[in-house]
Parts: sequence; structure tokens; C-alpha cells
Amino acid sequence: MFKIRALTPRDALKMAEVYGLCFSDVWETSFFEKKLQTTCVAYGAFEENSLVGFIFAQLIEGEGEILTFCVLPSYCRQGIGAALLENFLEQSRIETCFLEVNSKNQSARGLYERYEFEKKGIRAGYYAHFDQKSQDAIIYRYSKK
Ligand SMILES: CC(C)(COP(=O)(O)OP(=O)(O)OC[C@H]1O[C@@H](n2cnc3c(N)ncnc32)[C@H](O)[C@@H]1OP(=O)(O)O)[C@@H](O)C(=O)NCCC(=O)NCCS
Repeated sequence: MFKIRALTPRDALKMAEVYGLCFSDVWETSFFEKKLQTTCVAYGAFEENSLVGFIFAQLIEGEGEILTFCVLPSYCRQGIGAALLENFLEQSRIETCFLEVNSKNQSARGLYERYEFEKKGIRAGYYAHFDQKSQDAIIYRYSKK
């Protein structure tokens, strides 16, 4: 059974570790630390005392942007991602929320669409720098009803 709580700058090292196991690039501990001291919020899912996934978003004047969102591969498809997203949408006082996701990322897109994120645009070739193949980003927007 996992628990969700708000993350603080003290969780930055664990966030960077989990991020590194979920993505092929690196986000430094200091980046999470500084952002959590200023404009960002994060919620983490813990099993026992281990961080197994988190959602990390920037909040500016009632508008959110999900900067990253991940669950360790061995914990996927157990409802943790959905619980993190739901918790963020409920807890943060946002009216709207944007995000960009790789058009090929069916698992994340399935999850966002389940929570009524609407497709608003495409950035062609946005992820080309991560991998040799040019991959588009889909821009989604969520609006609180
Ligand atoms: C996207 C991610 C956070 C989802 O986390 P998760 O804990 O597996 O999500 P859940 O178990 O709560 O799944 C919720 C829903 O998402 C969708 N989903 C999740 N994984 C999926 C997959 N592999 N294929 C299709 N749909 C999927 C389904 O609608 C699923 O509901 P269901 O299990 O009832 O069918 C996780 O897959 C991940 O960390 N991926 C790598 C990092 C990433 O791509 N992050 C998003 C960047 S924008």
C-alpha cells in the first residue's frame, strides 16, 4: 500500500534518483531543490519510506504546468500515477493546467485523457534532441470544472 504526501526541498535527492530510473536524461538534485523553494510543488508516492513516483509542477497565478511525472517501472500499472495526478489536481489551487507529452507516450496520454485533459496542439519534432528520431510533443490542457 502506498501513501502520498507533498514533497519538500529535502526530498530533492530522492526525486532526482527516481527521475533517473524513469527517463533517459538527468535532472539534477539542485534543480528540484531550487524549484521547490520557489514556484514549484510536488507530491510523492511512498511505499514504506521509499519514494516510488512523483508529480512535479510549476504554479503561477492559478495556472499549473506539469514539468515531470513518473512512477518507477516496477510500480507502474498499480494506480499510483492516477492517484498522484488526482491528488495534484485536487490539492493545488489551479484553474488550468498545461503539459507537454511525447506523442508516442501512450501510457501517459491515456492517463491524462482519463482525467479530461484536452489535446490543444502539437509541437513538431520537439523531442528530437533526446533521440535521433524526431518526435512530436502533444500539448494538453486541463480546466477545473
Ligand atoms: C505515465 C506514468 C506516470 C503512469 O503511471 P502508472 O502508475 O503506471 O499509472 P496508473 O497505474 O495509475 O495507470 C492509470 C491509467 O493510465 C493509463 N496507462 C498507464 N500505463 C499505461 C500503458 N502502459 N498503456 C496504456 N495505458 C496506460 C491507463 O488508462 C491506466 O488505467 P488502467 O490501469 O485502469 O487501464 C508511468 O507510466 C511513467 O512513469 N512513465 C514513464 C515516465 C513518463 O512517461 N512520464 C510522463 C511524462 S509527461
